[in-house]
Amino acid sequence: AAPAATVVVTAAHMVDVLAGRQVDNPQVTIVDGRITKVGRRGDPVPAGATSIDLGGRTILPGLIDMHVHLTSDPTLSGYRGLEFTDAFWTVVGVANARKTIDAGFTTVRNVGSSNYDDVALKQGVDGGYIPGPRIVPATYALGVTGGHCDATEFPPSITVPSPQIANSPEGFRAAVRTIRKYGAQVVKVCMTGGVLSKTDSVGAQQLSLAEISAVVEEAHMLGMRVAVHAHGTSGINDALRAGVDTIEHASLADAESFKLAKAHGAWFDMDIYDDDYILAEGAKNGVFAESLEKERIVGRKQRETFRAAHAAGVKMLFGTDAGVYPNGNNALQFAKMVEWGMRPIEAIQAATRNAAEALDKTADVGAIAPGRYGDLIAVEGDPLADVRQLERVSFVMKSGQVVKPLDLR
Ligand code: ARG
Repeated sequence: AAPAATVVVTAAHMVDVLAGRQVDNPQVTIVDGRITKVGRRGDPVPAGATSIDLGGRTILPGLIDMHVHLTSDPTLSGYRGLEFTDAFWTVVGVANARKTIDAGFTTVRNVGSSNYDDVALKQGVDGGYIPGPRIVPATYALGVTGGHCDATEFPPSITVPSPQIANSPEGFRAAVRTIRKYGAQVVKVCMTGGVLSKTDSVGAQQLSLAEISAVVEEAHMLGMRVAVHAHGTSGINDALRAGVDTIEHASLADAESFKLAKAHGAWFDMDIYDDDYILAEGAKNGVFAESLEKERIVGRKQRETFRAAHAAGVKMLFGTDAGVYPNGNNALQFAKMVEWGMRPIEAIQAATRNAAEALDKTADVGAIAPGRYGDLIAVEGDPLADVRQLERVSFVMKSGQVVKPLDLR
């Protein structure tokens, strides 16, 4: 057997996301990619270890974004994407994987892409072909005919292959089985209308309770969790009654939704930065006029719901819908979460501790703690005083390997 590779990282401070506080002078020992010890600077260093001292910086666990689309580019919205061949989107994903990990996001849940592109990206990253975060792929986002995850922007004479479409409980069961067969590790399903889809009503429910219940039963039977795109109230509430794991967007959730989420242990994963970007850049980027109209309806409401849900004690995640705004700018959402009611530590926990729980990966990611991967990042200042520090990550390590070195110029 090869000798163990040991790396020892020291810094001035560490955010302990499990305890919810800052610790001074951490010394993190990583052996063969996993953390073995979290001690104090000055503790003995194992012989033969590589030492990395991050000076006065603060270290945090690698961040987790629970809602990304690595294979999307917001500047190619609406009909603009039609100029490109199918595999182009995987190439976009390669570039975005690099931007995402350089921004400090060492794990992402990719909740929707065509052609199993996200499985290809995952295989490329895991195989060491390209740099990028750990990827939990959903493959195709499932949905009903004419719904948010169908292509509704074409006339009837233009047929788009739609393996993601189902219209009955049995149809959804089969779809879940198919995407798992080809690499899905989480199921994404479009329960209500959406913003960026051209023709549906953003608040309308699109799956019946029987259909979403079939998705949940099948996914859970196969060991996968269910992420539900839902803006509208009745869709959110039926999804929660069916026992889904995470509600994406959650824009029009009400007090009943909060009660159901808490009773069922579901998380809300709310992309509350996007409104700024879509309203500022959407028209220029080719976003449909119908979509801009819908964004004006839900954008602010979603932020108010975020504040109310958090205050009501709903478990919250960090999910940006990056791809709707540029991948790599994921961290811009932290400041929004603080502006709309979270303390900085809560926003950071949403992107680390809580995210790992929602991924069912607390053995692997989400904290600087023994047993987990050596995924950590460093920032210059104090992120608990100024969460915007996370917009400027100066060092990234994944599995004990430096992905983004300090820029010492
Ligand atoms: N993918 C989402 C949709 O089309 C994006 C919503 C963005 N807007 C927002 N306010 N979060 O529905």
